[in-house]
Amino acid sequence: MLKKIKVKDVRLGMYIQEVCGSWMQHPFWKRSFKLTDEKDLNTLKNCGVDEIWIDTSLGLGVSADVKTLSKKGEELKVESELKKIDKTPQKTTALVSLQTELFAAKKIHTNAKKAVVSIFKDVRMGNALQLDGAVSLVNEIIQSIARNSSALICLSRLKNADDYTYLHSIAVCVLMVALGRQLGLKDAELQQAGIAGLLHDIGKIFIPDEVLNKPGKLTDEEFNIVKMHPLKGWEFLKESSEVHDFILDVCRHHHERMDGMGYPDKLSGEALTVFARMGAVCDVYDAITSNRSYKQGWEPAESIRKMAEWKNGHFDEVIFHAFVKTVGIYPTGTLLKLKSGRLGVVTDQSKKSLTKPIVKVFFSTRSIAQIVQEIIDLSKSQDSITNIENPLQWGFDLNEIMGV
Ligand code: C2E
Ligand code: SIN
Ligand code: FE
Repeated sequence: MLKKIKVKDVRLGMYIQEVCGSWMQHPFWKRSFKLTDEKDLNTLKNCGVDEIWIDTSLGLGVSADVKTLSKKGEELKVESELKKIDKTPQKTTALVSLQTELFAAKKIHTNAKKAVVSIFKDVRMGNALQLDGAVSLVNEIIQSIARNSSALICLSRLKNADDYTYLHSIAVCVLMVALGRQLGLKDAELQQAGIAGLLHDIGKIFIPDEVLNKPGKLTDEEFNIVKMHPLKGWEFLKESSEVHDFILDVCRHHHERMDGMGYPDKLSGEALTVFARMGAVCDVYDAITSNRSYKQGWEPAESIRKMAEWKNGHFDEVIFHAFVKTVGIYPTGTLLKLKSGRLGVVTDQSKKSLTKPIVKVFFSTRSIAQIVQEIIDLSKSQDSITNIENPLQWGFDLNEIMGV
């Protein structure tokens, strides 16, 4: 049931349907979500709005004795699965700067590419799966993400069409680790999550290259062939003794959807594990932000916004919300136009607000000229975001500006 309540009465566990008046200008915040984070609660209480709508069928009601328990089954499942996990508190703040971490991250990324190429090559030749290299690699990825998650996430976006499957596997690995960390998974699970990312598309080995790399849209028949990759990958991995159930699950179920419209098993809601739900979000985000032989990738901020707007039940909302916290509403690498007329690229996320990242300004649209580069923390600045810009339209090489 929908209820309008005073913001002062809001508490954790409520399902926020709508915030009345202008809260944060960003559409993401205009969506409904379950309030589970103390920080979001504080932001909400201090944002100058005094009333909101809650949905008591999806979250807690107004008074403490109204214990609602008609929460959505699938949310309950995610929460109870996450509860079972012995979480370790994680620092979400970057311990080192992006520039510093990029040195280490570039090496890790190069090694990752070698490792993935060699795993895929071995499998193609019919050799047994060897995961020793992958385990130590994922451990390095876990540490890099802990120091500064933006470095590997940014590097993972750089792809060329030919190597897409390898580079996509690394990107999904990196995103799974970062998301898992946000969800509070401990290292042993992060390791499984990372390896699951590396291996999720291994079944693409069994799909003919001319179909996979077709430079245009697939026919129905071709798409049906591609759709066999989760099952083919799973059949292969389940023969290998060292592959954990989580990994098998992500391989088989990363194309399932919460509404049951995915493949190969058309699982829905409760039948999907946390790991499979994580895989679906990370896979799609990386696929749509990548340039492909058949289509130009979208900018990260645009991709997040689109995924948030797909209301037809593709993703788990709790997991997606955690993902947005992981990469940001304006992910690192996003080109922004500020009220001052300056252009800046996001170089870090703010500890304070998802909508006020840290940017490096480098160009003035008023004087149409480069300006002295400067780092600005928008949570502490008078300046603010007016627009997300397309770097292709401006012709800037953002990676060069960021030092990627
Ligand atoms: P992929 O390219 O790695 O994409 C993974 C998933 O990301 C897709 O699964 C889909 O859920 C999402 N995705 C990717 N691009 C888009 C997009 O433009 N819009 C939306 N809404 N979602 C997108 P899906 O659709 O099951 O595709 C599985 C695989 O089939 C893809 O993996 C890709 O290898 C291949 N594929 C799909 N469509 C095409 C196509 O038009 N041409 C070619 N050559 N391959 C395609
Ligand atoms: C999806 O929900 O996965 C796709 C929806 C869309 O492309 O609009
Ligand atoms: Fe896939």
